[in-house]
Amino acid sequence: MLRVAAVVACAMAQQPGVHVEEHHPNMPLWTCDSSGCTKQTKTVVLDANWRWLHNGEYTNCYKDGDFDTTLCPDPVACAKNCHLEGNTAEQYTSTYGIEEIENGVQLSFVTKTKYGSNFGSRIYMLDESNKYQIFKLKNREFAMTADMFYMPCGLNGAVYFVEMDADGGEARAAASGGSNQAGAKYGTGYCDAQCPHDMKFMEGKANVIGWNTSHDPPIGKWGSCCAEMDIWEANSKATAYTPHPCSITGPYVCEGIDCGDNSKDQRYDGVCDKDGCDFNSWRLGDRSFYGRGTGFTVNSRSCRAVRPPQSSLR
Ligand SMILES: *[C@@H]1O[C@H](CO)[C@@H](O)[C@H](O)[C@H]1NC(C)=O
Repeated sequence: MLRVAAVVACAMAQQPGVHVEEHHPNMPLWTCDSSGCTKQTKTVVLDANWRWLHNGEYTNCYKDGDFDTTLCPDPVACAKNCHLEGNTAEQYTSTYGIEEIENGVQLSFVTKTKYGSNFGSRIYMLDESNKYQIFKLKNREFAMTADMFYMPCGLNGAVYFVEMDADGGEARAAASGGSNQAGAKYGTGYCDAQCPHDMKFMEGKANVIGWNTSHDPPIGKWGSCCAEMDIWEANSKATAYTPHPCSITGPYVCEGIDCGDNSKDQRYDGVCDKDGCDFNSWRLGDRSFYGRGTGFTVNSRSCRAVRPPQSSLR
């Protein structure tokens, strides 16, 4: 899965922001071999779907769960008319609850602001300011530390790989008649094995066709599919490790049966394996491997890397 706003007001496409310089919080990455480990300071970027989308001035392209019909009359026009705004360091924290901590990042779930509440977030590691970090893990090991101390049941704190384009889909958009000049710098191009329909843009085209605002979250006709390898989908009580292969390679914009929509009873007819082949120790018979407390081999209470949230769990 693993570009600086300052851009001038030229006018072409799922454009980069104009009002603030995009900030990318730091996150370390260690690369190791038999001679030891090298620490690099990489950065992370917030997914485009969370961003303010506007006309290059102050008119919203998207507001209260819906696209503006004047700025977004069709998928390509919308991508050309609308800008994904950057966020400052302060906004990353105070609006989205994404904070640098020692050797990592901390993500909050609900962040209240004077404009409303933000729920959750999704961030991607960057290699350069406008390219995602690509991981080649065949015959290698991947290790990380995740602090689940304050993660209650019902929430999923996840670390996973998806087959996104390194450039956030800029080249793919151009090749398919779409328009995406914001790119990885603004967190574009997300896909996963659930073929999410709630992405506002795919291949540089807005998902405005049939955008259903009665659905929570609102969804469009297209879904954004790609292979996914879930390393860590977890809270303080459970974890799952799940490959979700797909019959397609790289990001794929689905429509109809290819999306495997649950609502149409087509879950098993799409291009991706939505169930995946999950490994969850409790379900596979080891009920004392992972959980909250000293009775578990891996005790989620034993690691506390982050500061307590305002309302701590017991
Ligand atoms: C929109 O979503 C709602 C809620 O899921 C659903 O009941 C309705 O059928 C959807 N409308 C269309 C046109 O698909």
